[in-house]
Amino acid sequence: CRVVVLISGSGTNLQAFLDDAASEACDYTVEAVISNKADAYGLTRAHNAGVATEVLSHRDFSDREHFDQAMAKLIDGYQPDLVILAGFMRILTPDFVRHYSGRLLNIHPSLLPKYQGLHTHQRALDAGDHEHGATVHFVTEELDGGPPILQAAVPIEAGDTAETLAQRVQVQEHKIYPLVARWFAQGRLNMDGDRALLDGELL
Ligand code: GRF
Repeated sequence: CRVVVLISGSGTNLQAFLDDAASEACDYTVEAVISNKADAYGLTRAHNAGVATEVLSHRDFSDREHFDQAMAKLIDGYQPDLVILAGFMRILTPDFVRHYSGRLLNIHPSLLPKYQGLHTHQRALDAGDHEHGATVHFVTEELDGGPPILQAAVPIEAGDTAETLAQRVQVQEHKIYPLVARWFAQGRLNMDGDRALLDGELL
């Protein structure tokens, strides 16, 4: 299974994929890492792992449609079976999302459907929630609204800040995201309309 990962930043989730792909039993390979930011540290991580890197700056395009078209062309050059968003901080056009329908994954730092959008850790704290977490989901045209595949919950502790909570959530992200990539690579995971299926069972 050929995977292309899109990033904008530090790339700790990318690192989890690179580490997973380097292990013998893994069924997928990271073919390329593409960033919309030239200074994303994730590009260094990819380089260190011997993985091809590309930078495509959204600033070089007049609008979202043209950026997404160029991005899709770049991605498709690597003939991926699966495209993974790992901290890619751009909203995608409907055409882009449709083009990769059923083979485009995202991880969102909340227990969806709670807290779509930004500042999820602070919002969970402000709401007085007792738990928080992350969700891996198929990407559809609805922002942070595609079918959930796997969630990890962490307890919110007294004295937590958005930073301490984010750190604890990220430890879980690095476990569940590669696991979902493995399921996909093993042919166990499908998107059927607005539901995700694992081994033919609705999730
Ligand atoms: C993660 O918290 C993820 O949930 C969100 O963006 C962040 C990316 O972090 N979508 P990193 O670049 O993988 O460290």
